[in-house]
Amino acid sequence: MMLHQRTGPANPANLPSARFFADVGITANMRVLDVGCGNGDLSRMIAELVGPDGEVVGIDRSEAALAAARGMTPTAEAAPISYQAVDLSGEFPDLGEFDAIVGRRVLMYLPDAAATLARLAKLSRRGTLMAFQEHARADLPGGPDELPVHRQCYDMMWDTVAAEQGDVTLGYRLANLMREAGFAIEQARSEGILFHPWEESFLPTLARLMLPRMIERGVVRDGEIDLDGLARAIDDERRAVKGTIFWDLAFLVSGRFQSAE
Ligand SMILES: C[S@@+](CC[C@H](N)C(=O)[O-])C[C@H]1O[C@@H](n2cnc3c(N)ncnc32)[C@H](O)[C@@H]1O
Repeated sequence: MMLHQRTGPANPANLPSARFFADVGITANMRVLDVGCGNGDLSRMIAELVGPDGEVVGIDRSEAALAAARGMTPTAEAAPISYQAVDLSGEFPDLGEFDAIVGRRVLMYLPDAAATLARLAKLSRRGTLMAFQEHARADLPGGPDELPVHRQCYDMMWDTVAAEQGDVTLGYRLANLMREAGFAIEQARSEGILFHPWEESFLPTLARLMLPRMIERGVVRDGEIDLDGLARAIDDERRAVKGTIFWDLAFLVSGRFQSAE
């Protein structure tokens, strides 16, 4: 039973994950590493896939995120999950070998994702599965009408990732980087993240979550953004648009370890 209470709409950027990670070859009894696990949303999904005789290890550098993850209770049919503080930009502690390594929206935040993938290759044996969902900055949002408020949010958010030394092209480069780390690519596809005019938008929640990071990185000044006003403007714009808003691009890539180059 999950104890987590969600207050607003779900993040539509997570919608491709259930389909993708269930379809890459994660099976019962596997030992799986979730890289940059955050509050463990993906770890819990994987724990259901590998079942009670499997094992999931979630690693992240944020103690706050790990504390939130540890506060959730997995189902009886799910694998046990352990969470550990690890900085993906440094050397890893001894984590053992894994049957599968997964991650969602994490490589894009690293200044040197190739170096992290090389370290992950050392936790792999021939046949170890790797599957990541990452995103990239594109010329979005798109739609049938002009979307100035959504566009302003999109630019502020990606400018923040860039200012944090993240790689805003990571989604486009994901398959190449995995190949260079020794993984033969099995699936590589992209899925659009959509907002519909009739559905409450996740965007005000996202803006609220990201505002401290935007201020810290100087993308906006403290006091410059009125979150309630922005939420109203986002809602007005999505209600008025005569079609679907194409908000973001998810890249979904899986492969199997052959050997390090
Ligand atoms: C957008 S969140 C995604 C969380 C989770 N994968 C999910 O999809 O729910 C990005 C996560 O990457 C973690 N992260 C970013 N840079 C990191 C690093 N250098 N080492 C470890 N974790 C890192 C952050 O702490 C955060 O929890």
